[in-house]
Amino acid sequence: MSSASNPHAADVGRLTIAGGHVGGAIRVPGDKSISHRVALLAALASGTSIIRGFSHGDDCQATLSALHSLGIEHAWDEQVLSIHGHGRDGLSAPAAAIDCGNSGTTMRLLCGLLAPQGFSSTLIGDASLSRRPMERVAAPLRQMGARIATTDGCPPLRIDGNPRLRTARIEIDVASAQVKTALTLAALYADGPTTVVERAVSRDHSERLLAAMGANISIEADRGGARVTIEPGRRLGVVGGRIPGDTSSAAYWLVGATLLEGSRLLLPGVGLNPTRAAMVDLMVDWGADIAIERGNDWCGEPVVDLRIRGVGAALTGGVIDADMVPGLIDELPLIAALGASTTDGVEIRGAAELRTKESDRIATMAAALRALGVDVDEYPDGLAVAGGQTLGSGHVDTAGDHRIGLAMAAVALAARGPVTIENAETMAVSYPGFATALRSVVQR
Ligand code: S3P
Repeated sequence: MSSASNPHAADVGRLTIAGGHVGGAIRVPGDKSISHRVALLAALASGTSIIRGFSHGDDCQATLSALHSLGIEHAWDEQVLSIHGHGRDGLSAPAAAIDCGNSGTTMRLLCGLLAPQGFSSTLIGDASLSRRPMERVAAPLRQMGARIATTDGCPPLRIDGNPRLRTARIEIDVASAQVKTALTLAALYADGPTTVVERAVSRDHSERLLAAMGANISIEADRGGARVTIEPGRRLGVVGGRIPGDTSSAAYWLVGATLLEGSRLLLPGVGLNPTRAAMVDLMVDWGADIAIERGNDWCGEPVVDLRIRGVGAALTGGVIDADMVPGLIDELPLIAALGASTTDGVEIRGAAELRTKESDRIATMAAALRALGVDVDEYPDGLAVAGGQTLGSGHVDTAGDHRIGLAMAAVALAARGPVTIENAETMAVSYPGFATALRSVVQR
């Protein structure tokens, strides 16, 4: 058990949360999606990129160590990260298989970067990553001439580098920023312009960063989706400044602070890219009190301060349908958890994609909520949580999935009694220091 004197203390793998209200300010970690992209693109830039706010999460460390094994050095000086890029052709063959740990983003983005190299590589991951689908990225890359072998559709992956990738127009069937980014990275090496077409618009951090670094990239987006065209050849300039705070990490505090009446919380420097802003819009639509103050943009990314005032269990809730899923994909476990404390409940449909994440997030969320006495209906493509329920006291298992632990920790603040999260160490995948941040703002 955690120490009795501090109900929010985390010991190894276990975090116990008791209610109260929250007050003060939290700087959330740098955006995970952007950090991966900064690392990979800084490696291809000509010169040293000096960056603040790079995520310390395990996933982004996996990307840095993968780059290290490809001959790209980095160094930390306190919170400042330097990455020494050697230009587009500056990677060298790895001595061993590259271990992507738990990070699907590392593995899928590396597919795009490694397919056009003049050497071969093998990508492996932990037990969870080894079960995740990889044909969604390998198949479209093959249309450009990539030689990628999956193991029954999953890792390990064998990539036989082909420096002569072909120009192509590729339509991706799964709404996935990871697939889009892998193709975009490969396109930097193709023999002509490449167009990537997505029917549902996914997060566009790669496009914004590439444009800021001087790549020749154009984007057309409308209600029918987005078309991204990349012309290879331009040298990438270095990147600097502070990566915005992670919108998806901020979401846990939006929910936690909102559910506790009397709370007042400031989240400075959060990224609010329009392809990631749906959670804030949804909370406001459902009745949350969130003030948004616009700050300075970073590399084309809007940055804001968010001020939250708690309203209690007063949000309306509602339905999340298939069209809304890509914009809320990482927030869906949290929205399901929030459902119990809404008036009308929450129904999520068209979200079968959740079953292919770090865990089967439909099953693991249903189990976590049931462990606290919440009624949940599970469907093949989503789940429904009736409103007007108060979470009970109890133990919840993350099943090794960071977003399950973090979502349950956020709503546990409003539970009837203490909630213990087991296997909580996984939270460090995207949010290292969550327990410390929690201790710093909970007032009893
Ligand atoms: C990510 C894209 C999303 C998201 C993941 C990070 C990215 O995955 O769930 O946490 O950085 O591109 P998909 O692109 O597979 O939906």
